[in-house]
Parts: sequence; structure tokens; C-alpha cells
Amino acid sequence: TGTIAIRGRLLSFDADPAIEGEAGAVRFIEDGIVVVKEGMIVEVGEGPAIARRLGPGVPLVDHRPHLVLPGFIDPHLHLPQTQVIASYGAELMEWLAKYTFPEELRYGDSAVAGEASRFLLDTLAANGTTTAAVYCTTHQVSAEAFFTEAERRGQRMIAGKVMMDRNAPEGLLDTAELGYEQTKELIAEWHGRGRLEVAITPRFAPTSSEAQLEAVQALATEHPDLPIQTHLSENHGEIAFVAQAFPWSTDYTDVYERYGLVRSRAFFGHCIHLSERERSALAEKGASAIFCPTSNLFLGSGLYDLAASRALGLKTGIATDIGGGTSYSMLTTAAEGYKVLALKGQRLPAFEAFHMLTAGNAEALGIGDKVGQLSPGFEADLVVLDTKATGPLRRRMERVETLAEELFALMILGDERTTVATYAAGRRIYDRYQAGLRPLAP
Ligand code: GUN
Ligand code: FE
Repeated sequence: TGTIAIRGRLLSFDADPAIEGEAGAVRFIEDGIVVVKEGMIVEVGEGPAIARRLGPGVPLVDHRPHLVLPGFIDPHLHLPQTQVIASYGAELMEWLAKYTFPEELRYGDSAVAGEASRFLLDTLAANGTTTAAVYCTTHQVSAEAFFTEAERRGQRMIAGKVMMDRNAPEGLLDTAELGYEQTKELIAEWHGRGRLEVAITPRFAPTSSEAQLEAVQALATEHPDLPIQTHLSENHGEIAFVAQAFPWSTDYTDVYERYGLVRSRAFFGHCIHLSERERSALAEKGASAIFCPTSNLFLGSGLYDLAASRALGLKTGIATDIGGGTSYSMLTTAAEGYKVLALKGQRLPAFEAFHMLTAGNAEALGIGDKVGQLSPGFEADLVVLDTKATGPLRRRMERVETLAEELFALMILGDERTTVATYAAGRRIYDRYQAGLRPLAP
């Protein structure tokens, strides 16, 4: 591996601009260099000075005039839904039954799960996404296949075998005991191996019995630092279902609280129709809400309320939710997030959006000390972006005067085509020049 230097227009966030203000949060170096040693960032600074000092002995990749950012982080998506994406005409509960569950049945075959994992990881890399939190299926082999592929690429990934023991087709159900045992085995084999982490992954309350939620609680108690991922308050039909299935609960969040699942490093997908009590409970326990704008629009689920979360100190991440979501691009996801918030009368300025895609999402996943920033001591996951990659972008950029305007146009008009290169732990895992628009072979 050795040492390499990467030169470009560096953009990173030390803090949330919504809280600290731009001056305290945004770090931009018009001509900067990131020095990478053995997969870690060891130095970040002014390009000319660092280039002079390093001399010709250190290989330098000059990406000027392109932007260099921390790799994007996608905190919620589904491995088995790459062939469910863009399925017509249903809202959540019908969409699960009609399209998603039948497709997930195929993932008991490790060849199917392996092929999907390669496609997903290649496509994420092509979009500049270096870390994701991933739902596999109930099948142990689907998670094993995903971890195997992620390990070969050296990417930081969080994934789990889904636990569900009711209200889905027979072939997708585990049991309280089996879900516990299989998750234990995955933890023993994969958790902490290289850059991989296992997430405790009960799909959502409607598909788990109380016995299973007790088993999930046991896992959570035995592994207090492990991530937990599930879905919460996405759709009115789903909420009514939960109220009926758990008649003792005061609200949906209460079900997860009762089983000890609301805590730090617990990530709750959607969180659209929450009460003030629920938002406060999540915030107080240090859990994260994950905003999935393209999915929420596509399934007609509703509009996330960022201002309400911020008012209570509830951390928010932003994710694709493939394949309820409709784009693999975190730029497109931020653009749709902007539009959702516009419908709520709220704003998502470009600096806040790019913070969310990088350091904010890292923080939401509890890995904010490892990835999401261009700073010494962080892992060298980078994305290089061409803000003039397409005709519409080039034309718009002719009239752009500030960095904030440039980034906003990039987020609204950009997508996979703007990715020049993607690095995981200092290794180039995608390069648009060397491989056309296709990812490099592993
Ligand atoms: N709730 C439970 N499972 C799912 C899923 O696969 N996608 C979405 N969007 N919501 C869910
Ligand atoms: Fe989801």
C-alpha cells in the first residue's frame, strides 16, 4: 500500500453547519492534498506546500480541477431489492407482499446473493458511496455473501441478516431461536473483521413476534456496542398494524423501547409519522432517524420533518433505501430530500446536505470517528466529483459565483455521471477514465 498523495479541491466538514454555522464547520481548500498512508489519512493541507515537501518519491494523483470529498455514506438500503426497484403501483404493505417478499425468497441461494452483492457494491462505488448500512434477507447465506464481497473490496460496511418470524411467506421466516443463533454466528465470523460490522436487524415490528423481539433484546444486551437497524413509522397502514399486533404499546416507538432497542447506534429507517413523545424518546437515548426521501415519495409514505427532529436533538441521516428508494446516487437522494423539505416549508442548504452525506451520516451510524471527514486519523475513503460532468451542469456552472451555489447545483443536477473516482482505504475502487463508466474489476 505505501504512501500516496491525492490532489484536488478538498471539501470536508468538521461539524454540522446547521449547528456550528458555516465558518466553524466547512473546510474547503481550493488546491489541497490528502496524504494517505496504509489506508489512513495522515495529512491534509495546501497542495503546493505538501507537493514540494513530499517530492517525486511519493506517487501523486492530480484530480484538479475536481472536488475531493469524504466518500458518501448510505445508512439504509436493501441488498435483495436491486430487482425490486421501480416496481409499479403499490404502497408499503402491498409493495412488500407483492414485490419484495417474493424476490427476497431467491436469496437463500448464495450464488444469487453473491451476484447481487457484486452489482450493489459496484454501483455504490460508481456513485461515490464507500460505506453503507445494509439489510440482507432472512437467509444466513445472503449476509455471508455480502460480507465476503465487501471484504474483498476493503470497504467499511455494516450489514445484518434480517430477523422475521411472522407475517411473511414461510420461506422467509426464521424463528426467535434461529434468528438469535444465526446472528450470533455472523457476529463471531464477521463482526470487527477488517472494516466490517454486523448489525442486529429485526426487519420491523410487524414481522417479529414478541418472542423474537425478546431474542433481539438478548442480542442487544449481550452486544451493547453493536449497531441495530430497523424500520419505524413509515406508513399509516403499518402504524395501525403495529397498534393491533402490540395492543399494550402506547405508540410504535414504545414497542422498540420495551425491548431495549432504542439506544445509541440504533438506526430507525423513515420516522415520518412520529409524535413529539417518540422523537424525544429516540433523541434522549441517542438513536438516529434515517430520512429516505426517494422511497418516501415513491411509496407515497409521507414527508420527513427535519425541523422537528432538529428541535429535539434527534440525529438524522439520509439514505437511498434501495429498492423502495429509486436512486443509488446520494446526490439525487439529497436533491429529493431538498424537495421533500420544500413541501414542508423547510430548507436544506448545500453545505448542510453535503455534511449529511458524509460526516453527518457517519455520526448517525456511530462511526463518526472513523469515516466521513478529510482529517488525519480518518480512514482514506474519498470521492472525486466533476461538477461539470454533464451539459446541464456545465451550462449552470457558467453563472455560479460561490462554492455554495456550485454545490447546490451539483446536488440538484448531479448523479452517477459526476463521479470521477472513488477510493476505499486509499485504494481506487472506481475510476471513470480507466473503465469508462463501469467499475473496476475487484
Ligand atoms: N418496512 C419493512 N421492510 C421494508 C422494506 O423492505 N422497505 C421499506 N421501504 N420499508 C420496509
Ligand atoms: Fe428500508
